[in-house]
Amino acid sequence: MADSDGRAASTHAAVPDPLPETGMSEGTLIVGGSQAGVQLAVSLRQLGDTSPIVLVGEETRPPYQRPPLSKEFLAGRADLDSLAFRTPGFYADSGIDLVCGERVTEVSLSASGPVGSGVATTASGRELPFDRLALTVGADARRLPLPGAHLGGICYLRDHDDAVDLRARLATAANVIVVGGGFIGLEVASAARAAGPSVTVVEAADRLMARAVGPVVSEFYLRAHRRRGIDVRLSAGVTGFEGERGQVTTVELSDGTRLPADLVLVGIGVLPRTELAEQLGLTCDQGIVVDTHARTSDPTVVAAGDCTVQPHPMTGQGRVRLESVQNAVAQAQAAASTLLGRPNGVTPVPWFWSYQGDLKLQIAGLSADHDDQVVRGDPDDESFSVLYYRRNRLLAIDAVNRPADYMAVRKALGRGATIARDRAGDPTVPLKSLIGDPAAIAHRTDT
Ligand code: NAI
Repeated sequence: MADSDGRAASTHAAVPDPLPETGMSEGTLIVGGSQAGVQLAVSLRQLGDTSPIVLVGEETRPPYQRPPLSKEFLAGRADLDSLAFRTPGFYADSGIDLVCGERVTEVSLSASGPVGSGVATTASGRELPFDRLALTVGADARRLPLPGAHLGGICYLRDHDDAVDLRARLATAANVIVVGGGFIGLEVASAARAAGPSVTVVEAADRLMARAVGPVVSEFYLRAHRRRGIDVRLSAGVTGFEGERGQVTTVELSDGTRLPADLVLVGIGVLPRTELAEQLGLTCDQGIVVDTHARTSDPTVVAAGDCTVQPHPMTGQGRVRLESVQNAVAQAQAAASTLLGRPNGVTPVPWFWSYQGDLKLQIAGLSADHDDQVVRGDPDDESFSVLYYRRNRLLAIDAVNRPADYMAVRKALGRGATIARDRAGDPTVPLKSLIGDPAAIAHRTDT
């Protein structure tokens, strides 16, 4: 568990004690067949749970990794088979009943049966009874409800079908407009530019990736993408789309600019899926509210992944939504322990990555609350990092093409240690040699 001054612990589970006999006949229903759902099923088995597990997902194909969809898959360097989490036989061999192509539309907890038990119903009318419920339902791409938004060629990227469609359209596109300069937008813009067409990014904020990185890194990406021939418009709003014969031809901006377009990719963030949680009366606040043990406001129901918001010791901002593979995995592991009656609420150091062409951005920690920063290396060399501090204490790193810096900060944060601020800016000194003693932090008053 994270200690009081924010030190993060690892997610290693100790060798489990034998599980008490539960006598459960229906077992666990996991709603949502992506990263968190698969991990939760696997973790239950790894922790010794032998009761039934049903993993239900609305997509018709077995669960697969999403991060490569906007990178290797779009560039044609990966196919769906290579993205699968597990081999086809894995689920059956593990006693995990994988139900594909079924969307759960209703869920209720039993008023008279065992605590935590209930039944879910899918859109096709199938009933899935459970003794324990886990929600790993993820998030939807946020839509742009503007005039002309229905036109062909206006795309989103969240799942495999979206990526197949986008890849096919990219092959013939001449003018690509990307709405949103976040992770999805910039990864797609990079892949699109490499394929040849003209690419314009339209970002509403005054800097790129503002949700995830600091201003120095935003400015670097602005220049780097422009150097690579991508037109980036900041503080720009889209007001509508025009088309011919049902296909988009023009994107209209709030300043009156009209951009020619035959392909538009909208990547303006996500909306967590909270409908089922709301049916159950669970507390939601821009996500399903969970604690560090992945427990919802009804402690018999757990939730994990992009659909959740959680407290985090590394931020003073209250709850955070961590939209990352790493969080989905860690929360699912915590949820499995909770379901088996052994809550071990670990709070790992968050990390993220975004590969935009040849620019590898790696992020560890949460920088939002920083009051100081150190730039290490020269952004003009396209290899540098920014370390973020609060009251002289290391909070996070954004590293561009500097994996050793990133690893050193991840290690330091994982140990609850800091890296001496006054020497961190010297790129000739390896950061790992500057990792301090965690005890030094424990003894310092953090005022
Ligand atoms: P995002 O939150 O990273 O970026 C959305 C961007 O759109 C922001 O810069 C925002 O200012 C801008 N925006 C919002 N409304 C706009 C509007 N009306 N017009 C123009 N710009 C607007 O979300 P994004 O890029 O859509 O990614 C979606 C999800 O996928 C996130 O959860 C993200 O973390 C995840 N993802 C993660 C990746 C990774 O870890 N490498 C890669 C790709 C996606």
